[in-house]
This record gives sequence, C-alpha cells and structure tokens, in this order.
Amino acid sequence: MSIIFQESTRTFRLNAKNTTYMFKILDDEGFMAHAYWGKKLSDTDASYIVRRIPSPSVMERERATILDTMPQEFPSEDVGDFREAAFGLLDSEGHEGCSLLYDSHAIYPGKPALSGLPATFGSEKDCETLELTLKDPVLGIKAILLYTVFEDLDVIARSVRIVNEGKAPVRLTRVLSASVDFDREDLDMVSLWGGWARENNAQRVPIQHGIQKVESARGESSNTYHPFMALMAHDATDDFGEVYGFNFVYSGNFIAETQKEQHGYIRALMGINPQHFGWKLVPGDSFQAPEVILVHSSEGLSGMTRTYHDLYRQHLVRGKYAHALRPVLINNWEATYFDFNTEKLLEIASLAAKQGIELFVMDDGWFGSRRSDNAGLGDWYVCEDVLPGGLKPLADGINALGMKFGLWIEPEMVNEDSDLYRAHPDWAIQIPGRKHSRKRNQLVLDFSRKEVVDYIYGMIHKVLSSTNVEYVKWDMNRTLTNLGSYALDADRQQELSHRYVLGVYDMQNRLTTDFPQILLENCSSGGARFDPGMLYYSPQIWTSDNTDAIARLKIQAGTALMYPLSTIDANISIVPNHQTGRITPFTTRGDVAMCGTFGYQLDITKLTEEELSLIPKQVENYHRFNPLVTTGDYYRLHDIFTQDSWDSWMIVAKDRSEALVTYVQILAQGGDMIFPKVRLKGLEADSFYRIEGTDTVVSGQLLMQSGLQIDLKRGDYVSASVHLIREA
Ligand code: GLA
Repeated sequence: MSIIFQESTRTFRLNAKNTTYMFKILDDEGFMAHAYWGKKLSDTDASYIVRRIPSPSVMERERATILDTMPQEFPSEDVGDFREAAFGLLDSEGHEGCSLLYDSHAIYPGKPALSGLPATFGSEKDCETLELTLKDPVLGIKAILLYTVFEDLDVIARSVRIVNEGKAPVRLTRVLSASVDFDREDLDMVSLWGGWARENNAQRVPIQHGIQKVESARGESSNTYHPFMALMAHDATDDFGEVYGFNFVYSGNFIAETQKEQHGYIRALMGINPQHFGWKLVPGDSFQAPEVILVHSSEGLSGMTRTYHDLYRQHLVRGKYAHALRPVLINNWEATYFDFNTEKLLEIASLAAKQGIELFVMDDGWFGSRRSDNAGLGDWYVCEDVLPGGLKPLADGINALGMKFGLWIEPEMVNEDSDLYRAHPDWAIQIPGRKHSRKRNQLVLDFSRKEVVDYIYGMIHKVLSSTNVEYVKWDMNRTLTNLGSYALDADRQQELSHRYVLGVYDMQNRLTTDFPQILLENCSSGGARFDPGMLYYSPQIWTSDNTDAIARLKIQAGTALMYPLSTIDANISIVPNHQTGRITPFTTRGDVAMCGTFGYQLDITKLTEEELSLIPKQVENYHRFNPLVTTGDYYRLHDIFTQDSWDSWMIVAKDRSEALVTYVQILAQGGDMIFPKVRLKGLEADSFYRIEGTDTVVSGQLLMQSGLQIDLKRGDYVSASVHLIREA
C-alpha cells in the first residue's frame, strides 16, 4: 500500500519509490495542514511534523494569524491566508471567501482519467489514488483533490475537480492544481525561458522574498516560458541533492510560481493562469482542472530528469508509435517553402528513398488558395493547381518508392482570405467592433464551439480518408488575442481560453481514435506548445523551427530536462542554416539530430555527393541506436547554459550494457595535441566497456572517474559520437 490514512492521528501518508508526501487533518473543523514532501519517511503520524500552533484554543482566537502562517494543502482566498492561493471564487452575493475543510476521502488502486483532459495513466499494479474531498460549509462548494502515487517512480500526480453542490451559481476565479508549502527557505528555482527559434533555455535563480513566477497568458503553453519549474536545494547539483519538479499536463495558459513568505518559508503553486480565466459554475456542475506532475529527486536535477522521462514514456505517450521505432522522415518545408508541385516533391522523395529515408512529409501549401502565408487557412481541400489530380497521385507515387506519406495541417487557424472565413466570419476569435489583431496574417478559430471543431474535423477527416496518409504534422502558428467568442454569454467570455484548449484536445482525440495508424506530430511555430498535454496525443513534437545544430544544443538540452528524447523531433537541414546562417559539418548535424527522433528537412537534390553519401550510414545508425536513445537513461555531462564552448551528454541502457556518448565542440581552443576528456556517468563501475571501432577496453570506473578521451578534428562545431559496449 503506498497510501495510508492513519485514523488515530488523521494523517495521510503517500509513499512513492523513495519519496514521502504527508498531510493531516488538523482540527475538528477539518483544516488541512500540509506536513512534508521529501525523502522517504517510515512515520505514519504527521503530528510532530506539521508546523506547531501554540494551542488549540489559540486557533479560535487567532484563526487569521494561523491561517496566514500554517502550511496548507489547498489554500483558498480571503479567509486569512494572504499568501498566493490555489483557489478563489466570487459567490452569488459578490463575496470572495471560501473555506475548504475535510469532508471525506477514498483510497483505491489505479488512476482515473480526467474528463476531457490529457493525463498520465497507470494500471492498478502501477499506482494508487487518494481522492480527498474538501467542502465549504457555507456555499456547498466541494474540491475533490486527486493524488496518484506511482509506486516504482518518485511521482505524485495531483489534480482537482470543483463541484457546486450549493444552491446558487458561483464564479471560479482561480483554480490551481497543486500548492505545496515547504518548511524550508533554501531553494532555487529552475525554469525555462525563450522565444521563437530559441526555445527552452534553463535558468537557475535563488527564491527571494516576494513572488517569482513563469507563466503564459498566450492561449498556448508558449515558447516564452514553460509549464515547468524545479525547486533545487541551494546545495543540490545536477547529480546530488534534493530537487522538486513541477510539470503541468496542459497546453494553454498556466502559472508556475513561488512565494517566500514573511517567515522565509516557501509556497509553490502551479495551475491554469488566473489571467484570462473565469468559470461560471452553476449548481450541479463541476470543473475539472488539469494535473500537475510532482517529482522528487534526491539525486539532483538529473534524477528528476530521468524520472520524468520514465513516467512520460510509460504512462503518458500512447498509440502505435509510443514504443515503436519512428520512420526516418524528410520534410519539404526548408527545401521548397511554398514553391512546389507534385513533380518537385516526387523528385525529392525518390532521391530520399534511395538513401533509405522512410517517410516523406509534405508541409504547408498544398490546400485551398495557400500559395503564401497570407491566404487559404481554413480551406482543407487539395489545391489542384499545386497537386493536379489531388493527393492520391502524390501519395501513391511516394508509396511506390517504398516510403510512407504524411502531410501538414493547421486546423485551428483561418485567413480572412479563405472560403471558410467568407462563409463564417463569426467563427474567428474576436471582440466585436475591435480591429482584428493578426499574426502571420491569420486569425484563430473559435475552438470553444463544437460546430467549428466538427466542421474543421469533417474536412480534415475527408482528406485523411482520401488516400494512404500515415503521418500528420499538426501546427499552430499564433497566440490568442482579442479574446471574444460569438457563442459565449457575457458572463462566460472568460471561459474562452480554457474551452479553446478543450476543443483542441477533443479534435486531437478524434483524430488519433479514428486514424490509429497515423503518427501524429504536434508543432507550434516550432516548440511553442511542447508540453505533456500534447504528448498525450502525439508521441513526438517539432522542437523548434531552428534547425541549426549548435542552436539546437541548448534547445534540446532544455527540452530534455523533462521530456524523453523519443519525443524531441530533430532534423538535419542545409547550411548556411536558414535561421542562423551558421555553417556546421554534416556529421555534427547528424550527431545532434540522432539524439531525438531523426529526420531531414532539406532539398536532398541540392546536397553534395559527399553529403549524400553520408545519409545511408546515418539512417543505419539511427536504426541501431534509436532503441537505446529512446529507452535508456539520459545523463548531461556538461551544463551548456552556464558554459557554452562545448557540450556533451550520454544515454546508458537500463541494463548498463551499452551507452552512446555525444560530444560537440562549439569553439575550438588553441594548443597542440589537446583532446578533450569527459567524465561519464551511469555505467557499471566494475564492468569493462569496449569503445566501438577501437581495440580499447576500459573499466566503467575509469570512464566515470577519469574520463573518456574524445577524438576530435580541429575546428569549430565538430563532434564525436562514441558507442560503448559492455564486455561479456
Ligand atoms: C511553422 C512550423 C514550420 C512550418 C511552417 C509552415 O512555422 O513550425 O515547421 O511547418 O509553419 O508554414
């Protein structure tokens, strides 16, 4: 049993693999006090752990003082706790207060699905769930907190459902999914920041007094900040010390914040961003908030990383390709942009097929009047000027080459210059009377409306059924602004952003259910919606529009902080690189892309003979190494965010029988005969490993204590990839 309720002390103890999480019903009224989250404890009584209050009588006299300092399990607004709250509402009289007190609980094996939302899953053998019901005695509002403990991982998944069992409607103003009060003040916050073509840069800063937060109010999880934070003990490193990870399984607006309060203790919260949020909850209705994945590590940040990787690979990513080798793809975007026809695409595909490439993806520009990025979005039927005879001749031609065929869509968007917009201008998100705020000359369709999702899905269903499509790239290229829906009443307009995300999930669910053979890849101008919510529907995501191998080092390292390499799409493109102008060796581009889902995004007909000759070997290596890359343990061997003249990482098989080490020299250093040496991690100390391609056999201990010698050519941007095989 990983979850225990001790009746005598009214303590809940949740034990994951090496982690304990505890809280307690504090008084007769049912105040829920948070007690502990950290390394495993055998105690079942939290009485000594919960922060002390002077005496029970003081609780009556000083309720507001105590509420403002006690660690709470699910704090709400305007009852005396002035710190950031997890929950807030306005009742029908316009008041804010709500006291969520213990009502009941249930403990059961397995994990329930969250209605309409993506979530991690697990069998009755994998996990156990606590359903804790809190209730406000005045309004009849219930908060049902779900805690699922994964027994073999240091993971607790938390979410909350709000139910109105009262007599009057209320307006939810703040429903965060997790709040944790730490009895410690020595924590740093690690978060990710970025922008288009420079996603997921990691930063670590001490948590100071006041509020620190990352957030999105852009309608998508965004590339500016990420729905993630790790709280690291000041003395924790990548390999040692305590780390607490928070990652939100949601693809819309979020906040991830900490507050260091008056006594120096830290509260951490995560959930839907209260900005652009409001929800009218009428009697009998409920509101389900998405889940937060809490990971505890006492093996530093890298321990947290490996736990997220294991969880997402086993308990989040689904479908035919969840555990299967993905086909090596070639995408025509950087090859042709909008300038293509059937002949050009078949020319690229046939040369690609000869090199062993397995999937051809036709990107943007094949539908409606889409001859540039100014028109056509919304018209999901083939443009016969581009592809005479439709998709079938192209798809058949690609299949005849022995390749799979895939295509690009951007279902959530509309151009004003489209048949769809001309017929349904009210289907775009907008505030009546206010000028459209365009981005890439496009508007966002109101996916909060079922008829809009039905219509778009109907068109796309027809295209996907018309021929043998085995891959879809679902793009989303702008943020949500001018938040207005023609279908929502004034008192529900603030529900639009969340309802929009639910509409996206609904359509992704339909698509993956109706076309299980399709490999779905999400994308949002690159990585602007790379989040666990999307990974529930698509096993891989386009990580960034920046395909430069050197820029990708940071982008992929930041993304791999919690997402498995099997989800990180990485392609080789031409040089000078289209985003940075940088010229890197073809082999370096290959080594960097090899540690993701591998592919090409270039006009293969324009490669040199030498470059072309390298492709069959790269494809062969991908087939050899991908099973290791996508199932093994990932170790960072360097922190590129603090020192970026080189980078290195490795993947070790779960049974420690082999490892793949990648080293990239960014800036060459002067000096004669100096080769870099890098200390490895995760090997078996007393086993011996052969360095493939050489006669050298060395102990795991030596490789970890002294290091692997890297054979490198001179020059900037050169790389090496080393395969180690354990000797029998
Ligand atoms: C976005 C994507 C690109 C490409 C273009 C097409 O920018 O991230 O990969 O598909 O759209 O318009």
